[in-house]
Amino acid sequence: MPYTYTLPKSTAFTGTGLEGYAFGPLRQNDLDVYYIESKKGHDTFMISSKITRTYYVLAGSGYFTIADERYDVYPGMLVEVPPKVEYTYSGQMTLIGFARPRWFRKNDTHTRWNPDVTAREKSSLPGHEPLLTRLVRKRIAGKSPLGVFLRLNRSLWRHIPSDLAGRGLVRSYGRFVHSVARRSPREQAFSTYFLRNRPALKLIQSLVDSKKSGEKVRVAVLGCSFGAEAYSVAYAIRSARPDLDLKLNAIDISRHAVEFARRGEYSRTGAEPSISMIFERLTEAEMDEMFEVDGDTATIRAEIRKGIEWGVGDVGEPELFDRLGVQDIVVASNFLCHMQPPEAERCLRAIGRLVRPGGYLFVCGIDLDVRTKVARDLAWEPVPELFEEIHEGDACLRSHYPCEYGGLEPLDKTRPDWKIRYAAAFQIGVDRTSSAPAGEAREEMLIGGGRK
Ligand SMILES: C[S@@+](CC[C@H](N)C(=O)[O-])C[C@H]1O[C@@H](n2cnc3c(N)ncnc32)[C@H](O)[C@@H]1O
Repeated sequence: MPYTYTLPKSTAFTGTGLEGYAFGPLRQNDLDVYYIESKKGHDTFMISSKITRTYYVLAGSGYFTIADERYDVYPGMLVEVPPKVEYTYSGQMTLIGFARPRWFRKNDTHTRWNPDVTAREKSSLPGHEPLLTRLVRKRIAGKSPLGVFLRLNRSLWRHIPSDLAGRGLVRSYGRFVHSVARRSPREQAFSTYFLRNRPALKLIQSLVDSKKSGEKVRVAVLGCSFGAEAYSVAYAIRSARPDLDLKLNAIDISRHAVEFARRGEYSRTGAEPSISMIFERLTEAEMDEMFEVDGDTATIRAEIRKGIEWGVGDVGEPELFDRLGVQDIVVASNFLCHMQPPEAERCLRAIGRLVRPGGYLFVCGIDLDVRTKVARDLAWEPVPELFEEIHEGDACLRSHYPCEYGGLEPLDKTRPDWKIRYAAAFQIGVDRTSSAPAGEAREEMLIGGGRK
């Protein structure tokens, strides 16, 4: 029976301004103990319903705002926050936090964003979802009708032949089920795969192919998780054009994920639960090209790592734009679907600003209504090459439809908006009033000249 606890490898919670690790579970079943690295502070103001929280300041300095009063804190101080009182904290600090009783879902009401940490709108606060969403999530006799409905449909859907799923009444029913699934609580996840969407990587290769030898290519991979996507993009570009000067910025909100990714060392038996499937889409030959394998450990080869800058950052924060500057290609996959639609929309608009005029944005794993709205508003140009292949390119997204909120609906060409709705690659900032034919304009603006 253990009497000592080391810092866990994975975070228990992350936000724009902090990361928290939970020790245990401890044997005292009414206590949680956290180690918190606050860079800027807690993202929100909150009111706890039952839990008293106690914080001990180990290092750094900042202040707590409790019931609208400011309390400056420094190392050695203890702060006790009882239930029913609105509070937050700001500053660069290392804290040990105690929660008694243990944290449970619904304990916290988030009342507003903490302006020291983020400038988001109130409508995107956790728990401030539309009434219909809250109704759908209600529990009756301890069971969520939403959960029961989706479970039933999961088994039903497994028995529907895939060619039927995209047709007539079945398609309409699928849409209805998905509209219900989209009301489920959303949660960020780390799951990722090497070579996750091959057609998208092929398109990236074709986009950089006209660059001149030695020319710089700036790529940002946002929400990079444990690095598989960033290394896959680097591998795709380097294997097609080893002569290019690739500068790839890989960004994630989680420090833990970024540090893991930077090491580029993966256990083949998947010690970290979220990466147990990370290699499953690789052939043996690709495994060999991408990694040096030593026993259980596969380490990314030096030539693939070259030119990658890893960074912790929140795509929703304007400072990311100042930090990275404009990019030729931006990849934003599979994290916007875990946000509430208003927050996803705000982030997607910000992400679009990272792409230089004429550059490309790859965005998948997002509510299609959000992507369509932003793409239309900002006149993003869907890229026709490999359009259907990219849509079908990530098997797990398609297989999660319609019963998971992140599932991807089958491509439906009877929709008048299908060319924009199902596009996952866009060219941004193209002047459509230009008299140059689209192909020529793209060649000149984007690729920056012919290959030597
Ligand atoms: C499901 S993983 C997707 C990984 C990878 N993009 C892929 O498609 O395989 C989502 C990642 O997005 C990160 N993330 C979520 N919100 C973010 C934000 N606001 N800014 C940056 N990264 C974020 C999460 O920490 C997580 O590592």
